[in-house]
Amino acid sequence: MKQVIGQTGVEGSRISLGCMRMAALDVADAEKVIATSLEAGINFIDHADIYGGGQSEERFRDAVTNLGIAREDLILQSKCGIQRGYFDFSKDHILKSVDGILKRLDTDYLDFLVLHRPDILVEPEEVAEAFSQLKQSGKVKHFGVSNQNRYQMELLQSYLDEPLAVNQLQLSPAHTPMFDFGVNVNMRNEAGVNRDSGIVEYCRLNKVTIQAWSPFQIDLGKGLFSGNPDYKELNETISRYAEQYGVSDEAIIIAWILRHPAKMQAIIGSMNPERIVKIAKATEVNLTRPEWYDIYRSAGNVLP
Ligand SMILES: NC(=O)c1ccc[n+]([C@@H]2O[C@H](COP(=O)([O-])OP(=O)(O)OC[C@H]3O[C@@H](n4cnc5c(N)ncnc54)[C@H](OP(=O)(O)O)[C@@H]3O)[C@@H](O)[C@H]2O)c1
Repeated sequence: MKQVIGQTGVEGSRISLGCMRMAALDVADAEKVIATSLEAGINFIDHADIYGGGQSEERFRDAVTNLGIAREDLILQSKCGIQRGYFDFSKDHILKSVDGILKRLDTDYLDFLVLHRPDILVEPEEVAEAFSQLKQSGKVKHFGVSNQNRYQMELLQSYLDEPLAVNQLQLSPAHTPMFDFGVNVNMRNEAGVNRDSGIVEYCRLNKVTIQAWSPFQIDLGKGLFSGNPDYKELNETISRYAEQYGVSDEAIIIAWILRHPAKMQAIIGSMNPERIVKIAKATEVNLTRPEWYDIYRSAGNVLP
C-alpha cells in the first residue's frame, strides 16, 4: 500500500525498510532482505550516512547491483548531520555528506535527504543554500528533517523555497510522547508535558509525513517491548488482536501506527525476511477506534 509523501506527489510504500542494521549482514543476506521487501510492496528505503559508518549504504548498493534492481523501482532516502560528538547542519557538511552518500549508494540522486538530529548551532540560511544547490544540481529531489519540534521546523521552513516533506520521529505503542500531552492538555501530570510543541498537529496542518522510527522499541536504547515483562499487558493485548485478525503481533504493532489519520509511514529495522513478510500484512488491518485506544491504554497510558 502506497501513500503520497508530504506535498511532493511522490508515492512511496507506507512501510519503509530502515537500513540502520544492514552493515551487519553479508551481501547475500542483504539481497534476501531487499528482494523480500520489494516483493512485499516495500519500495521506500531509509538510510543515514552514519549507519554502520557508511557500510550499510555500501552493503545495500552491492545487494541492489547483484539483484539488478532498476533505480526507479526504489525510493531512496538518506540522512546527514550527525558527526562524532556533535551535530552539523553547515552548508559544507551537508554538501560533503550528500556526495559521500551518492557515492556509497552508487546513484546520481536521492529522492529524499533528511537532516538527522537538530543542530543547536543551525544557521537556516546555510541549510537553505545547501538544499538549493543540491536541488539545482539534481542530487536531491526532496528534503525533510528528523527529531525536530514544530518551531525548529517553522524556523527552517521560513528560509526554504519548498515545503519540508517529512519529519522522522520515534513512535511505538510503548513510546508515545507525541500523543500523550494531547490527551492531557492542561493537566498537572507527567503525561501532560508538551515535549515537541505539538508536532503531530503541525505536521498534519502542513502536510508533512511523519516517519515513525523504531516502531518495536521502548525509549531510545531501552530495547524491544515484545517479551519485556514491564509491557505484559501491552503484549497480551497486541497478541489478542493478532489472533482476531489472523496476523502476527508485529503486523498489529505496525497497523496501530498506520491507523493514525496523519497517514504516517512506519520505518522498520528488521533484517529478517520472514519477519518482514509478517510485518507487511499490517496494511491489511484497519484497527477500530476502541481497538486503537485499547492498545494505547495497555501500554500504561491513562485517559483523563
Ligand atoms: N531518525 C532517527 O533518529 C532514527 C533513529 C533510529 C532508527 N531510525 C530508522 O528507523 C529504522 C528502524 O529502527 P529499529 O531497527 O530500531 O526499529 P525496529 O523495527 O523497532 O527494531 C528492529 C530490530 O528489532 C529486532 N526484533 C527482535 N524481535 C522483534 C520482534 N518481535 N518484532 C520486531 N523486531 C524485532 C529486529 O531483529 P530482526 O532483524 O531479527 O527482525 C531488529 O534488530 C532504522 O533502520 C533507521 O532507518 C531512525
